[in-house]
Amino acid sequence: MSIPSNIRTVPPEELEEQKAYASRVREHYARRLGGRAPLACVRTFGCQQNVSDSEHMKGLLAGMGFSFTDDPEEADFILFNTCAVREHAVDRVFGNVGALKAVKRRRPETLIAVCGCMVQQEHVAQKLKESYPFVGLVFGTHVLHRLPELLFEALGSRRQLQSIPNMDGVIAEGLPVRRDGGFKAWLPIMYGCNNFCTYCIVPYVRGRERSRDPERILEEARELVAEGYKEITLLGQNVNSYGKGEAHGVDFPELLRRINAIEGDFLIRFMTSHPKDATPELFDTIAACEKVSRHFHLPFQSGSSRILGLMNRGYTREQYLALIDYARRAVPDIAFTSDVIVGFPGETREDFEETLSLVRQVKFVSLFTFIFSPRKGTPAARMPDPIPAEEKSAWFKELTDTQEELAAERLAGMVGQRRRALIESRENGYIEARLADNIVVRLPDAGIPLGEYAEVEITEAKSWILIGRLAAQ
Ligand code: SAM
Ligand code: SF4
Ligand code: F3S
Repeated sequence: MSIPSNIRTVPPEELEEQKAYASRVREHYARRLGGRAPLACVRTFGCQQNVSDSEHMKGLLAGMGFSFTDDPEEADFILFNTCAVREHAVDRVFGNVGALKAVKRRRPETLIAVCGCMVQQEHVAQKLKESYPFVGLVFGTHVLHRLPELLFEALGSRRQLQSIPNMDGVIAEGLPVRRDGGFKAWLPIMYGCNNFCTYCIVPYVRGRERSRDPERILEEARELVAEGYKEITLLGQNVNSYGKGEAHGVDFPELLRRINAIEGDFLIRFMTSHPKDATPELFDTIAACEKVSRHFHLPFQSGSSRILGLMNRGYTREQYLALIDYARRAVPDIAFTSDVIVGFPGETREDFEETLSLVRQVKFVSLFTFIFSPRKGTPAARMPDPIPAEEKSAWFKELTDTQEELAAERLAGMVGQRRRALIESRENGYIEARLADNIVVRLPDAGIPLGEYAEVEITEAKSWILIGRLAAQ
């Protein structure tokens, strides 16, 4: 596998070394707790990549003898895996970490750790050191696989231990994983991002783009199918640039074809795709692969080519719309969702109206809408931003109202359809099932086990959810 020299594949000896540390952590707790299994409370903030990282860290913790709890009050080890994408996310983490001070006072033996994207920023690491001394361990995104060693060292240290190497990134294969879901699994295929959209902190905290070896991905996908997983979501900040610059020559469409060829009844999802790397070949591949979901998350961020240029997105409004057009011709039942930012520095009312018109034109199933949040160290944080916050909020409301109307219309148009859905949850006499295009249908609980597929008939549309019943066989 040819990986640029500044990106490291963690050698197996290093992972073996971590197993030795895991035994030492286990012994430490066995001595201290007199045979009771130590309890870990892992909280995850941010995107699916973080959720997947936490699943691997839980795998490592299980290997150190930990059981798990959701209650920080009873945990011996508390781990917060954090997000830095918007100020709100950072404030939320600081609020939650602050609340742990009381836990630490009541139970001084508890070890508190903070890791993930937020920590990878120098000013955050500094703040944790100065203002949150009760946090015993702080580590960045490139050293997750060294959790046993870091935990062991922190247990023996009276001061806050920080490990936040500033590097391009690693690929650690073969880590244990403790998955949260019984029938839906996350499968990371690439890490990091090279796009440097001017507003975004991710490339700074997650390092350079690097793709896993296709054989390792296929092996993991086969295992998941054999274990009965019904949905596999391929993860990456930029999934569709998978394989770029690698000698194995497997690109994203080829990877999809190979996973699609695995025998079994399962659905392949993926996120997130970048419009500049979404090729006609990708849509043709989706059309040809029956196991690939017809849901496509394709963030457009702004409907104004001028703002897209300032954002460094690498495509124009026209190119984005042409892509959607092609996709709808190649895959007629494709359903799009997207991300959009309101109030980017310098955005005018006219630019915003172009966003509104794009939303009306494309008719997304759903939209993730964000108000621009300046991130320290990114180019956009230094751009003049004359629009007052109240005006941005008013635009934001206009956009979400428009989307709600469009989504309601779309859902209403689905009444009467008969569709296949995955039964995901049950509560109060109802079950919720998800269609391949990611829309949720609520139906009376007829006792079907979670994780099974069922044919449902859509009987009614609410503003963001469908109501239905099991279709007669
Ligand atoms: N890699 C994906 C992409 O390119 O679309 C997702 C990146 S990010 C984790 C998810 C979304 O957060 C982005 O699509 C963008 O809409 C939003 N976002 C990122 N940085 C932001 C910022 N500084 N302010 C507001 N929203 C932001
Ligand atoms: Fe951020 Fe852009 Fe990379 Fe997405 S593609 S993670 S928005 S820099
Ligand atoms: Fe947040 Fe890091 Fe994901 S910044 S959105 S957790 S990659």
